[in-house]
Amino acid sequence: NLTHLTELLLDGVNISAHGNDWCKALSSSLPNIKVLSMSNCYLSGPLDASLAKLQSLSIIRLSGNNLSAPVPEFLANYSKLTALQLSSCQLNGIFPQAIFQLPTLEILDLSYNKFLQGSFPEFHQNLSLRTLLLSNTNFSGTLPQSIGGLQKLSRIELAGNNFTGPIPNSMANLTQLFYLDLSSNKFTGTLPSFRKSKNLTYVDVSHNQLKGEIPSGHWEGLRSLTYVDLGYNAFNGSIPSSLLAIPSLQKLQLSNNRFGGQIPVFPNVSSSLLDTLDLSSNKLQGSIPSSVFGLAKLNVLELSSNKLNGTLQLHWIQTLPNLTTLGLSYNNLTVNASGGNSNMPSLPQIKKLRLASCDLGMFPDLRNQSKLFHLDLSDNQITGPVPGWISELSLLQYLNLSRNLLVDLEGPLSLPGLNILDLHHNQLRGSIPVPALFIAYVDYSSNNFSSFIPPNIGNYFNFTFFFSLSNNHLRGAIPQSICSTEELLVLDLSNNSLSGAIPSCLIEKIKTLRVLNLRRNNFDDIIPDKFPRSCELKTLDLSGNNLQGQVPKSLANCTMLEVLDLGRLQIVDLAFNHFRGNLPNICLKTWEGMMEGGNKSLEHIRYDPLKLTNGLYYQDSVTVTLKGLELELVKILTVFTSADFSSNNFEGPIPDAIGQFNALYALNLSHNVLTGQIPSSLGNLSQLESLDLSSNQLSGQIPQQLASLSFLSVLNLSYNRLVGQIPEGTQIQTFSPDSFEGNQGLCGPPLILACSHPFISACYNTSGSNSGIEIDWNFLSVEFGYIFGLGIVILPLMFCKRWRTWYYTHVNRVIFRIFPQLDKRSKSLGRRAQRNRRRQ
Ligand SMILES: *[C@@H]1O[C@H](CO)[C@@H](O)[C@H](O)[C@H]1NC(C)=O
Ligand SMILES: *[C@@H]1O[C@H](CO)[C@@H](O)[C@H](O)[C@H]1NC(C)=O
Ligand SMILES: *[C@@H]1O[C@H](CO)[C@@H](O)[C@H](O)[C@H]1NC(C)=O
Ligand SMILES: *[C@@H]1O[C@H](CO)[C@@H](O)[C@H](O)[C@H]1NC(C)=O
Ligand SMILES: *[C@@H]1O[C@H](CO)[C@@H](O)[C@H](O)[C@H]1NC(C)=O
Ligand SMILES: *[C@@H]1O[C@H](CO)[C@@H](O)[C@H](O)[C@H]1NC(C)=O
Ligand SMILES: *[C@@H]1O[C@H](CO)[C@@H](O)[C@H](O)[C@H]1NC(C)=O
Ligand SMILES: *[C@@H]1O[C@H](CO)[C@@H](O)[C@H](O)[C@H]1NC(C)=O
Ligand SMILES: *[C@@H]1O[C@H](CO)[C@@H](O)[C@H](O)[C@H]1NC(C)=O
Ligand SMILES: *[C@@H]1O[C@H](CO)[C@@H](O)[C@H](O)[C@H]1NC(C)=O
Ligand SMILES: *[C@@H]1O[C@H](CO)[C@@H](O)[C@H](O)[C@H]1NC(C)=O
Ligand SMILES: *[C@@H]1O[C@H](CO)[C@@H](O)[C@H](O)[C@H]1NC(C)=O
Repeated sequence: NLTHLTELLLDGVNISAHGNDWCKALSSSLPNIKVLSMSNCYLSGPLDASLAKLQSLSIIRLSGNNLSAPVPEFLANYSKLTALQLSSCQLNGIFPQAIFQLPTLEILDLSYNKFLQGSFPEFHQNLSLRTLLLSNTNFSGTLPQSIGGLQKLSRIELAGNNFTGPIPNSMANLTQLFYLDLSSNKFTGTLPSFRKSKNLTYVDVSHNQLKGEIPSGHWEGLRSLTYVDLGYNAFNGSIPSSLLAIPSLQKLQLSNNRFGGQIPVFPNVSSSLLDTLDLSSNKLQGSIPSSVFGLAKLNVLELSSNKLNGTLQLHWIQTLPNLTTLGLSYNNLTVNASGGNSNMPSLPQIKKLRLASCDLGMFPDLRNQSKLFHLDLSDNQITGPVPGWISELSLLQYLNLSRNLLVDLEGPLSLPGLNILDLHHNQLRGSIPVPALFIAYVDYSSNNFSSFIPPNIGNYFNFTFFFSLSNNHLRGAIPQSICSTEELLVLDLSNNSLSGAIPSCLIEKIKTLRVLNLRRNNFDDIIPDKFPRSCELKTLDLSGNNLQGQVPKSLANCTMLEVLDLGRLQIVDLAFNHFRGNLPNICLKTWEGMMEGGNKSLEHIRYDPLKLTNGLYYQDSVTVTLKGLELELVKILTVFTSADFSSNNFEGPIPDAIGQFNALYALNLSHNVLTGQIPSSLGNLSQLESLDLSSNQLSGQIPQQLASLSFLSVLNLSYNRLVGQIPEGTQIQTFSPDSFEGNQGLCGPPLILACSHPFISACYNTSGSNSGIEIDWNFLSVEFGYIFGLGIVILPLMFCKRWRTWYYTHVNRVIFRIFPQLDKRSKSLGRRAQRNRRRQ
């Protein structure tokens, strides 16, 4: 008989029972139970209704059981319930709001139930709630003002939910508040004051959308505060100086905000307990106050990405014996790495050193820094060789020496733990260094590396996802071994002198490949028709080679990511090759992503580099012809949908299907041998801003539908065989005449020749089809070009055989009649025209 039993404490005992069983067993045998504590007992759900009988229950602890069920409403009927702990229970459904209103409830822990939805009610007054733990659930909605009335509330954890709206300023009344974590929500507005919460020790409001200035008075008199994280918001104004005066403060993280002004001076540095000071990615100015170097307990000092200026001697950090992380990158600082006082202790044992863009002229002496695992010296003026002692930093995982003036490597860089090696943009020469065995990221681009890619390079690539050799002087073929990698996402070999065929295994076997950039090399032969069904390519840049043959049909397999990643980049740049054949319908089908655009996004260019990992990005450099200018979008992977097939030998008509790719932003089909009419379906490309069909053999009239392309700002239809009226009353008429030059019979604005002109109407009256006319532009422009405007009036006549004879006979008379003031010139013109006619 267990009826007298009031507490059941079985935490951690493997009971492995189904909800119906354990609940019924409990409710029938333990009617008077007050404390039910069965965390981590492998219990399954649901919470059976039979439990509703246990009206004496005061404490329920079932955390860490996979209940996979909703929270039942009847829990709100326990009139004595003080603690309900259900964290990590795979709860789902909507949490009953009535439970929040239980007058007796002091502790509610629902954290880590990511499928549990819910929102707060208006809280009744006189509730007993002390601890409210909802981190990493799926709660949403706002915090009601009435939360400020929960006088006993001391611990609030709401991290990783979807809460919106302001943090109610009534929370300033929570005098018992001790621990506050509102991080990773969508809170907006300003931060209330916590002055009245004298016992506050922990505040984390990071990763929200909070903004505004933080009055210094907000933090006055808080003598227990140890942890403050306001990072990843949009706070501005000065850093509240009262915050720095809190004697108990150990960690202060204000990164990724808009704090400006100077770093305040730290009072009481000698007694400071500050261990972490992260002010990175703000707008702080001026010099680093010397008081910072008196914070002897500092472990982490991160000041990167501000506007700090002045000169700093690296040996100043000798006063910070426990410093393990130093970040000064991307300021306007000059860090002097030379010198150091031999009487002083040596530099602390640093683990992370970030000195990018610090105007360093030499390597800091890191010879004995055996704990160093992250070293960023990029974007400095460091000259000479990469010192041999770097090979002795055996814990090094991240080494970034890019953007310096380095010429040689004194030692190998095959450190066993090296994950990320970035040497790009130096003057390194010779053969490429053999990377470490388990390296993930290798950037050797923009150096003077020459010779061949080592044939066994692929043997080092079991875990490599990024490999760039772009902009070097490498020659020879791509070694087959490269295909043995199974992780590669980005392979960039562009701008070298590599030759031979593209290994078909590269296309066929590396199923992970997202970016393949081989442009500007000497690759020849055909593109292997081996794109696998699971092709995930996002960027394929093969331009500037000598590739031949047809666009492979299997390229149609490269659809997946584009379909998944709606609206993302689809640049297929095949320009400047010798492709021939019909403009491939099949190929167009690969860009189904383009069809997703439509009315969804009017944001035409979004810079959205391919995020790899650890904050690393691959940023493509893509040449696009945009608004008539050839732009190199250096190191930027745009999300820009463009198709560039220019300067090949594509023939046949433009497929009508192209009208389906309605997210297309730029379309360049120029310099091919395309024939037939401009498809009217182009009028469906509502996002189109740039259309270049120039230098083809397109015929017929310009379809009226092009007039509906309201974003079009570049149009080039020149040098085709187009005829008839340029669509009237449209934006198309606002383009310059250059957009239309070199066509046989176009008329109407912006061309000076009116369509009503008798010559034109006689020549191109109805059908507009006028094939077979031979044009000799050159002689016309030579003959008449210097007479302003004149050429434009007369030129179109040249292409109409019937009128040509008439023209030569009457040219003098016509010109003279239109421009009497040109009398003299017209006479000499006439003589030359006669000469030309004889030449014909
Ligand atoms: C929890 O249980 C459900 C249903 O029994 C099961 O589908 C799910 O995989 C389990 N989750 C975990 C994390 O064990
Ligand atoms: C809660 O108790 C009330 C009255 O005691 C009852 O009417 C209601 O049905 C109960 N709710 C649940 C969900 O058991
Ligand atoms: C979270 O809740 C929202 C509705 O508020 C729902 O759309 C979403 O699917 C939920 N997420 C999860 C992971 O359950
Ligand atoms: C937030 O809400 C959105 C949309 O309702 C949902 O997709 C997302 O999963 C939610 N996020 C979290 C962390 O619950
Ligand atoms: C704080 O509480 C006092 C007294 O209960 C009340 O007058 C005041 O309005 C509250 N402040 C806020 C911001 O809610
Ligand atoms: C702060 O905490 C102490 C001890 O934990 C307690 O005695 C004191 O009342 C609290 N102060 C306030 C203002 O709540
Ligand atoms: C801070 O941002 C607010 C808007 O959020 C603006 O009104 C205010 O002027 C800014 N203050 C400073 C010092 O930039
Ligand atoms: C540095 O850390 C060590 C070990 O954690 C500690 O004993 C020492 O007091 C610290 N030094 C300073 C100046 O805080
Ligand atoms: C640093 O910047 C401040 C203003 O931001 C300027 O007044 C000062 O002259 C600068 N100091 C140096 C050494 O450039
Ligand atoms: C950096 O400081 C120099 C003077 O030291 C100044 O000329 C320059 O404008 C500053 N640059 C920026 C971006 O503030
Ligand atoms: C790399 O992978 C290949 C084949 O998957 C395997 O034979 C080789 O042992 C691996 N190398 C290392 C160092 O793990
Ligand atoms: C897609 O790849 C498979 C081989 O995985 C191939 O058989 C098929 O022909 C390819 N599809 C196209 C359209 O080429």
